[in-house]
Amino acid sequence: MKFTNALTSTFVFPAAALSTMTAAAPLEPRDVYDPRVTYPHTGTVWIVGQRHNVTWDTSDAPVNITNPIGTIKLGANNIILPITLATGFSVLSGRHEVTVPDVDSGEYFLVFFGDSGDWSDTFTINSS
Ligand SMILES: *[C@@H]1O[C@H](CO)[C@@H](O)[C@H](O)[C@H]1NC(C)=O
Ligand SMILES: *[C@@H]1O[C@H](CO)[C@@H](O)[C@H](O)[C@H]1NC(C)=O
Repeated sequence: MKFTNALTSTFVFPAAALSTMTAAAPLEPRDVYDPRVTYPHTGTVWIVGQRHNVTWDTSDAPVNITNPIGTIKLGANNIILPITLATGFSVLSGRHEVTVPDVDSGEYFLVFFGDSGDWSDTFTINSS
């Protein structure tokens, strides 16, 4: 990025420039919110093709939410997979029905994206 390169190649870094940059940052009266997934949880077993309600705790939702639109992705082995179970729903709804994707049997987790991403417990998906 050109802007970053210009900064790092400049030896003089006046404090005035820094404070200007800080002041220029947008002031958002909104709160980061990453709801905690309550289902599926440890011990849950899903079968490919079934439908289930993913649920999450909305009791600690702040008044103003930075990103009110949720996305649920699948993960395995500490990696978020390019498999989206649902997107475009309200993070305040507390549940969203998803279809278990066609994946190999194994241990998985969900990643719930509000602002950054809450990882659910690991649970099991069976392919039959
Ligand atoms: C998900 O929850 C809604 C509302 O409670 C319900 O109508 C629906 O049948 C549920 N879906 C499943 C798969 O349990
Ligand atoms: C929420 O946003 C509204 C409108 O931007 C603002 O007036 C209010 O103070 C905010 N509330 C909180 C708790 O941040």
